[in-house]
Amino acid sequence: MSRKRVAVLISGRGSNMAALIEAAKDKNYPAEIVLVVSNRPDAGGLDVARVAGIATEIVDHTKFGKDRAAFERALQDALLKHRVDIVCLAGFMRLLSADFVNRWQGRLINIHPALLPAFKGLDTHKRALEAGAKVHGATVHFVVAEMDSGPIIAQGAVAVRDGDSEATLSARVLAVEHRIYPLALKLVAEDRVRVVDGRCLIDGEPVPEGASMVPGA
Ligand code: GRF
Repeated sequence: MSRKRVAVLISGRGSNMAALIEAAKDKNYPAEIVLVVSNRPDAGGLDVARVAGIATEIVDHTKFGKDRAAFERALQDALLKHRVDIVCLAGFMRLLSADFVNRWQGRLINIHPALLPAFKGLDTHKRALEAGAKVHGATVHFVVAEMDSGPIIAQGAVAVRDGDSEATLSARVLAVEHRIYPLALKLVAEDRVRVVDGRCLIDGEPVPEGASMVPGA
């Protein structure tokens, strides 16, 4: 089976992008990272991608003013130019329109630093601590027009510890993100994920092997 061509969209440091690049170094991994796109010219992840020898594109949203359609056309052009099959959002801080999302339906995934549907949006670790959550984690999901929604492909959980700060909790969740994102992309690239009634079945089963919990993390 030929490997799926993947673009990773970033806005910042790109540690999840790096985890995907690392996973894809294995020739048996079903996806190759062919492109990294940033909407910010100064995103730290761009250098990491360049060092790894991966093509990079900058689609700077500030150049398009309020014209989101033009921004997304530029994004789409970059993806088409590199013959991308699957798009991974990894800390990409722009909302995408329903038009764009629908065009990539089933081929556009995101990682969110919380156990969705809890704590959609920003500052998830702070909010989990304030809420007194005992368990927190990360989710990889298909992107739909509504923010941080869409069928859940994989989740990883961590226990919230007494005395956790935003920094300590986010560091443990990030380690989980770096494990579940490559796993989720692998499942999608292998066409093993099917959405039925808004829920993902992996190989026809509700729970992907090894992806439901990362106990003790
Ligand atoms: C991650 O926590 C990701 O879940 C969220 O933004 C952060 C990006 O981090 N969407 P990085 O750029 O992958 O290091």
